[in-house]
This record gives sequence, C-alpha cells and structure tokens, in this order.
Amino acid sequence: MIVLKTERELDIMRAAGAIAAVVLNDVGAFIRPGVTTKEVDDFAASRIRHYGATSAFLGYRKYPCNICISVNDEVVHGLAGPRRIQFGDIISLDVGVRYQGYIGDTAKTVAVGGCNLLAQKLIDVTTQALYEGISRALAGNRVVDISRAVQTYVESNGFSVVREFVGHGVGRTVHEDPQVPNFVEPGKNSAKLKPGMTIAIEPMVNAGSAVVKVLSDKWTVVTQDGLPSAHMEHTVLITESEPEILTCPENLPSSLRAR
Ligand code: MF3
Ligand code: CO
Ligand code: CO
Repeated sequence: MIVLKTERELDIMRAAGAIAAVVLNDVGAFIRPGVTTKEVDDFAASRIRHYGATSAFLGYRKYPCNICISVNDEVVHGLAGPRRIQFGDIISLDVGVRYQGYIGDTAKTVAVGGCNLLAQKLIDVTTQALYEGISRALAGNRVVDISRAVQTYVESNGFSVVREFVGHGVGRTVHEDPQVPNFVEPGKNSAKLKPGMTIAIEPMVNAGSAVVKVLSDKWTVVTQDGLPSAHMEHTVLITESEPEILTCPENLPSSLRAR
C-alpha cells in the first residue's frame, strides 16, 4: 500500500530529511585516513542525537550499527568495526534517521584523499544516475521511468546496477511501498507516481559485474568480482510539478541550527 503524505506530515519529513542530510555531511567531513569505521559510526550516533533524532537503522531487522559504512568493494550494509580507513578508499555512507516519527534516508560515496580514476568515475556516474532518476520522479510517470533512467545512464557508462537491493517508499518506516528498482524488469508493471508520494531513489552501481554476495556477518554486501561499488541516495517528494528533494540540508529547522 502506497501512503500519500499530508502537508503536516511533509513538514516533518522535510525536517527529518534535513537532519539526515546534515548528519551525512558531518560524517563525510569526519572521514579521514586512520580512523576506524567504529569511530565513524560513534560520531554519526552523536550527530544524530545532537539534532534530536534517532538512528532508523539501529535495530532494524537487528541491524547492529547507527549508519551503514561500506568500503571499496562493499556495496551496502557495511558494519562498523576496527577497520581503519585508508588513503584512496571510497566509503559509502548511508544515514537513516527518525525524527518526530518520520524517516529521512540519504547516502553518498566519498573518496578519501583523492582516488584512482576508475573510482572517481564510478562516484561521478552514480551521482549523475541518481539525478537522472530524480528528474523522472514526476506525477503521471511510473516508477519504471525512474528505473529506466538510472539503468540506461549507468550501463551507457560501462558500469552495472545491483539487482538485489532497491529504492523504496519512505515515511513512518524506512521501507514502504513502492519498490524503486534501479533496473527495468520487462513485463512487470509499476506504480504510477502521484503528488504526496515520498520515495528513496538509491542507485547502487558496480564498476564491474552486477553480481553481489553477502558476507558471513549476514549484513555486508560485497561485489563478487572485488571491484568497487558506489551508492547515492535521496528521499524525494513527488509534487504537481518538479520533484522535491527532502534530504536537503537547507530545510534544517531554525531551532536546530548552529547547535
Ligand atoms: N540501505 C538501506 C536503505 O537505504 C537501509 C539499510 S537498513 C539496515 O534503504 F538495517 F541495513 F540498516
Ligand atoms: Co539509505
Ligand atoms: Co533507502
């Protein structure tokens, strides 16, 4: 069931989205060679708390960390631990917060101190794929129009989209209907986009093959070929006109600014 949000709910979702976006920026700025992913997760927890929110991921299906930190060939759901971030790594950070009962969900991949050409192209293509998808998030279009835009852009640049994990509706819970795949499933019909729908668009892009596997920790998803992967995500509102990005730092409530 797809839930359309009221204006009152959207005001809270703008705040939740802004908190997620600001925390993601704060965590991105904290990343540097030598810090452990556990230290990054602890820092994220303190920033989430600072803005009066809670992690939407901690405890979700027993997920044990505050944010997802996925390094290099790790695709999504990387677990924080003693691993030290190194110069040249690319780090996918996924932040989900709950604020006044609503979720903001946003992710980005950052390069640590510059990186090789392949990794930088991967980040650039994944970023642009997200915006290709967002630009099709228009009332009257269908979810598949977003999926097609993402897949076409990624594959025309020689990379591949992950099939096992998809974008999703966002609201009172992290994952609502509809699913928002980053690929087209021929013959499958998809929901029509309507004003008031709030969805997370989140391309997961592999430099090599699309095939992934889950590690024995039951969470960390890695590429099978060991090549790097990138992830970019925004929570987006379908409106009567242009899509509105809800995970936008500018919407941070004035009461939470400069704290
Ligand atoms: N990466 C997922 C998303 O953005 C959510 C992670 S759920 C968790 O939709 F439990 F793994 F944290
Ligand atoms: Co996310
Ligand atoms: Co998401």
